[in-house]
Amino acid sequence: MSLRLASAGESHGPGLVAIVTGLPAGLELDRAAIDGDLKRRQEGYGRSPRQQIEQDRVDVLAGLRHGRTLGTPLALVVWNNDHKNWTWGMSPWPPEGEPVGKGTKAVTLPRPGHADLAGVLKYGHADVRNALERASARHTAVHVAAGAVAKALLASIGISVAGSTVDEEGLRAAIDEARKERDTVGGVVEVRATGVPPGLGSYASKDDRLDARLAFALMGIQAVKGVEIGDGFALAGLRGSQAHDEIRTDRRRDTNHAGGIEAGISNGEEIVVRAAMKPLPTLMKPLRSVDLATGEEAAALVERSDVAAVEALAVVAEAAVAWELAVLAKDKFGGDALGDFVEAHRAYTERIGWA
Ligand SMILES: Cc1cc2nc3c(=O)[nH]c(=O)nc-3n(C[C@H](O)[C@H](O)[C@H](O)COP(=O)(O)O)c2cc1C
Repeated sequence: MSLRLASAGESHGPGLVAIVTGLPAGLELDRAAIDGDLKRRQEGYGRSPRQQIEQDRVDVLAGLRHGRTLGTPLALVVWNNDHKNWTWGMSPWPPEGEPVGKGTKAVTLPRPGHADLAGVLKYGHADVRNALERASARHTAVHVAAGAVAKALLASIGISVAGSTVDEEGLRAAIDEARKERDTVGGVVEVRATGVPPGLGSYASKDDRLDARLAFALMGIQAVKGVEIGDGFALAGLRGSQAHDEIRTDRRRDTNHAGGIEAGISNGEEIVVRAAMKPLPTLMKPLRSVDLATGEEAAALVERSDVAAVEALAVVAEAAVAWELAVLAKDKFGGDALGDFVEAHRAYTERIGWA
């Protein structure tokens, strides 16, 4: 059975849910490790006070007993503490009583760069909130929880995945400047995966390609507008003799311009991918927009927002890469019980002579 993930949840709704199917039975999950990743996602420099309200923790509703997976669907929940301020505004059912708290008035001022305008046009909403709540990156929290589960599965075969920002110092200075000017910034993150044997992904079909899967996974994250595999765009300016990683007799490489992927298959070197994040669209000094209620020119919606979320993106991107690698590893090695998965990996690496 392939690993699959479905999620649901609005930014200020009661909570965020993920259902993971296809996990082998017997995988030990560490609640502190999952909560640790949720905390890392919240801590980045430049984030809004929302993060102090949330203090995310994972709850498990199904698929786990005494810390080990049962081989049944795993249901993960991250509750939105902030929902208590939105119980009327984000009530799933028609709210009772007088409007109280946040989200009681319709939003009609779409923000350039956000889901607001395209979302209301597509779905026929009168209130922009109906579009922005799900488009918001809040639900990346539960994807980070699922990514932590994927990392546990990968760790059982010696694979580890880590995300970080590129140019941390420059980024923090840019955030300080932007905050003063009530503006926002983006940035670049990098994810590296070590211990990946040659053979994850395939050139057989384009949707089997590891590079295509990783680009898809990273582009699936809000505000990501560019993805590079290995040296990526820089390769376009190099000669072939400079760009490709020569093969030693032990089948390893001295360089890694390819970022560990050739022909859509991992080649045994470290996987290296980067994602570029645009500046966040919610501005405290808003851009020009239209009031959808009156048709008049108006300033875009201003609401509590991050100045930057690049450090958070590093954690979300790490989870996304871990998830894709886990899917491909599960497809390759199979196994209803964790031991079957681990044994298939051992037998395969022995066959190809990859210690
Ligand atoms: C971790 C993370 C946090 C984000 N926080 C905000 C935010 O506070 N304010 C904002 O306007 N956009 C934020 N975004 C970006 C928007 O969600 C995103 O720009 C929007 O949904 C439109 O999608 P697009 O940028 O992919 O076109 C965040 C994105 C990520 C990945």
